[in-house]
Amino acid sequence: MNITLNNIHKRFGPVHANKGITAAFGEGQIVGILGENGAGKSTLMKILSGFQPADSGEILLDNNHIRYDGPQSALAYGIGMLQQDPLDVGAFTVLENYVFGRSDRFLPKWRDAEQELLQLVQRFGFDLDPDTPIENLSIAQRQQLEIIRLLGLGVQALILDEPTTGISAEQKATLFDALRRLAHQDKLVVLLVSHKLEDVIDLCDSVIVLRSGENVGSMLMPETHTLSPALMNETKARLVQMMFGQELPQQKRQSAATSRAIMQLNNLHVQDKRLHIAGVSLTVHAGEVIGLAGLDGSGQELFMRAVCGLTRTAEGKIHVGNQDLTGKPYRQFMTNGVVFGAAGRLEEGLIAGLTLTEHIALVDDTQAFIDWQTLSKATQEKIAHYNVRGRPSDEIQQLSGGNQQRVLMALLPEQPELLILEQPTRGLDVDSAHWIWEQLLFRRQHGTAIIFSSPELDELVAYSDRILVFYSGRIHEVTDVSGTTIDQLGHLIGGEFSQ
Ligand SMILES: Nc1ncnc2c1ncn2[C@@H]1O[C@H](COP(=O)(O)OP(=O)(O)OP(=O)(O)O)[C@@H](O)[C@H]1O
Ligand SMILES: [Mg+2]
Repeated sequence: MNITLNNIHKRFGPVHANKGITAAFGEGQIVGILGENGAGKSTLMKILSGFQPADSGEILLDNNHIRYDGPQSALAYGIGMLQQDPLDVGAFTVLENYVFGRSDRFLPKWRDAEQELLQLVQRFGFDLDPDTPIENLSIAQRQQLEIIRLLGLGVQALILDEPTTGISAEQKATLFDALRRLAHQDKLVVLLVSHKLEDVIDLCDSVIVLRSGENVGSMLMPETHTLSPALMNETKARLVQMMFGQELPQQKRQSAATSRAIMQLNNLHVQDKRLHIAGVSLTVHAGEVIGLAGLDGSGQELFMRAVCGLTRTAEGKIHVGNQDLTGKPYRQFMTNGVVFGAAGRLEEGLIAGLTLTEHIALVDDTQAFIDWQTLSKATQEKIAHYNVRGRPSDEIQQLSGGNQQRVLMALLPEQPELLILEQPTRGLDVDSAHWIWEQLLFRRQHGTAIIFSSPELDELVAYSDRILVFYSGRIHEVTDVSGTTIDQLGHLIGGEFSQ
């Protein structure tokens, strides 16, 4: 199938999200859709996959004009999309989800469906069991399921919106292999929205770049076998130039750690269904940045939740300042200046259906009664300060992913003792990620300690004073971060350390 988008326009109130975008995607091709936060990428892809109607413009499939009235009709034409923030968690199993969305006419027998599912799982080396309840799946597994569900429905074009956020390097390699086969062997059109330039360069045959709602150009990606580190850097620089109209400055790392202890962990044990973190002793100092590395589900999430009272600890002590907070709830930690920020934007941190002002109201405890006028003004100020593209009355899910992340940042208190942040730059473009770190480092300069997790090794190396590498609940501490290469860190994350 060949896809042509012709002069697509889409407005949301005053925001002109797509300003006459024209683009063509050929079959058998993997095309990257690049652009800064709010550039209009998700909007364009939602229009192509029927989740949103365009205000005007045309969609042509194999040169035929098509009109959809929703994602189901786009699917009937063979176009399927994985959403940026998958929310469809229900009490279903993998197999039930796999056959979900088929019309009765196509509803296969359970056993046939299971065979089909297993064949796809095996072909792509996915990690899925038909009987697992969806809610027990990791982000990567949900994604794998959604891909094969769409394939089961016979899609000819597969759209993925930031699929590599929140998955491990290994899971990413599996995903990319699957996408290469789907495009190059099965001749699907694969469209990939991403901020990760390395990923795009590695996977895509070509890219288009959107800036402020316009298509500002396209570029062929180098052949994989010719891709040297030098060519990688050169290609990245050219893409950044296209995305932002300028090259970004490199930043230097400087420590602001002091000797004042903020948090002390003493022989801490934490246990959940799968993992056991045993005997951690650690002192966190004011102004210190501690990065947590590890594959998805290696214990870093559990650790972060345990040290701020969100998960029960099995043994050991947690002191904050000179207070013993062992076994106390998160609220106690918060009153002592320990604040947690979750990665799952719409799962934990933000509430779909609430406006920006309502979010600010939720965290505001200075007033006994809610004064909406004052709050709306405060929200305006936050929006301006944090450079959020949105209005106080917008519901949070209407914002682009990167702008949601900025709102999360705006909701954090100004000067906590310790910030515990899960993947603080998840889904952000280079420029926005840089901006978030400026905000964090500003707080650190004033003594706030930061513990953060990230799947990005270069982010860990760039900002951490120390790195704790997690591998199935075991922890290896890297103290000499500037003397550690990304490559060495990669090996540690894979479990190549003894303890
Ligand atoms: N449903 C909506 N209601 C109001 N505004 C919207 C809606 N969806 C998108 N927008 C706005 O349109 C613009 C483009 O958003 P879009 O989600 O397409 O950006 P994006 O390129 O995907 O960004 P990101 O990289 O942050 O995900 C943004 O300013 C966003 O706030
Ligand atoms: Mg988006």
